[in-house]
Amino acid sequence: MSSTFNTRRRILNSIAAACLAIPLSKSAYSKSIGYAFSGPAADRDLGLLPLRPCTSGTRSTTAGPFYTPSTPLRSDLREPDTKGSTLVLEGLVMTSDCRPVVGAVIDIWHCDENGRYDNVGYRYRGHQYTDAAGSYQFTTIRPTIYTGRTEHIHVKVQGEGTRLLTTQIYFPDQQAHNSQDWIYKDELLMNLKKTDQGWYGRFDFIL
Ligand SMILES: [Fe+2]
Repeated sequence: MSSTFNTRRRILNSIAAACLAIPLSKSAYSKSIGYAFSGPAADRDLGLLPLRPCTSGTRSTTAGPFYTPSTPLRSDLREPDTKGSTLVLEGLVMTSDCRPVVGAVIDIWHCDENGRYDNVGYRYRGHQYTDAAGSYQFTTIRPTIYTGRTEHIHVKVQGEGTRLLTTQIYFPDQQAHNSQDWIYKDELLMNLKKTDQGWYGRFDFIL
């Protein structure tokens, strides 16, 4: 009897020890956009400072009908056959008290230079993770207007444990089209300038 008891206790002890040895699995995952939170990207050393006080969250707008989840992990969305102008888009993802959101997923999609979305594959679609400074950087092309819409880039951003922000950002040199677009909002204008290589856009997202 005593031997059976001791054997059972040894088995239970060994099971308990084995359980303690198993590391807790990290299962953080954004169900809504289909990505695991895998940690920060390698430092981009962009040296960005917040554009303005982080007092309110970035406005949400509709995703529209052309969202595709689970896009490729990449920062360069340019296609070899593109005729669009290169756009470098970068910025920070921060909390409302201006702390960087490290390892946030940022997923963008936009139409091509002819106003068409790729709803079969992943042309002009991609996601990446913010780095330890909360920064992101995409290289893509400028999209264009299409029926009923001014030029815009769609974005979904989510940090581990934060809200999921779905929004669209706009181009300040498209005033005529912007003013006729019912989804457009001034507060979602990027900072934009022309460069030797094409265009540079800056937008910070506040979660
Ligand atoms: Fe769109």
